[in-house]
Amino acid sequence: MNVDSKICLVTGAGSGIGATTAKHLAARGMTVVCADLNGDGAAQVAADIVAAGGSATAATLDVTDDVAVSALVEQIVADHGRLDVAVNSAGIGDPERNHLADVDPAAWHRVIGVNLTGVFFCMRAEIDAMLRTGGGSIVNMASVHSLVGRSMQAAYVASKHGVVGLTKAAAIEYGDRAIRVNAVCPGYIETPLLVDMPTPMREQIEAKHPVGRLGTPEEVAEVVDFLAGDSSSFVTGAAYTVDGGYTAQ
Ligand SMILES: NC(=O)c1ccc[n+]([C@@H]2O[C@H](COP(=O)([O-])OP(=O)(O)OC[C@H]3O[C@@H](n4cnc5c(N)ncnc54)[C@H](O)[C@@H]3O)[C@@H](O)[C@H]2O)c1
Repeated sequence: MNVDSKICLVTGAGSGIGATTAKHLAARGMTVVCADLNGDGAAQVAADIVAAGGSATAATLDVTDDVAVSALVEQIVADHGRLDVAVNSAGIGDPERNHLADVDPAAWHRVIGVNLTGVFFCMRAEIDAMLRTGGGSIVNMASVHSLVGRSMQAAYVASKHGVVGLTKAAAIEYGDRAIRVNAVCPGYIETPLLVDMPTPMREQIEAKHPVGRLGTPEEVAEVVDFLAGDSSSFVTGAAYTVDGGYTAQ
């Protein structure tokens, strides 16, 4: 149903969950700005949306650059008059798989910089715009590792726990000003983020999902869609698991 004319920003829209979410929200009628460090990927997703009859543009964006993040959000407000929905999906995995005591500080800063500070920079600009233009809905891409730990991924686990913390803090601060903020906590999802995973580790991870398989980006996009739109008008500060039962055990 093409019924929702909201203006939407999706970060990390050039690949994986962000790309699928951008297409999903556009298919329901939203105008989507597809932003990604990989500008070519974002442009391809925007082109796919337009070819399918939707409305989208693309932007090259590094979420660790707070000036660039604010400039893009201001451009969206200048072009469309408002920002209704933001999906903060840009993220990276842990480049190292080391025990905490062996984690290189540079790798720590990189993961925290993209996955946590990047989400903060995006939320800061998005909330500022939404306060001026009538409110909105923010959905942050967290993880099952926002809720449970995992060895050899301290930076990733810490960054994703932080995303849920930011989500809750903002939901409390802005709940009375028509801004809802929620997080989605996916289990392991079939995206390029997992391509480098060794087969034994992949099999071990599949077994941790009671449904017996990994998830798909579409299954995550369905929940983002619910949280982004008006159907979830009384939902804020939530961390929704989409994890095939991973955290139910
Ligand atoms: N795939 C999974 O199993 C899984 C599970 C739980 C959570 N997540 C989270 O979902 C989100 C999307 O992951 P995915 O699986 O789609 O991965 P992906 O690698 O397919 O997509 C991530 C996108 O983020 C972009 N990106 C990376 N750094 C960026 C930066 N500094 N600025 C802007 N864009 C940047 C990448 O270019 C890429 O297009 C991430 O936040 C990830 O942590 C993924």
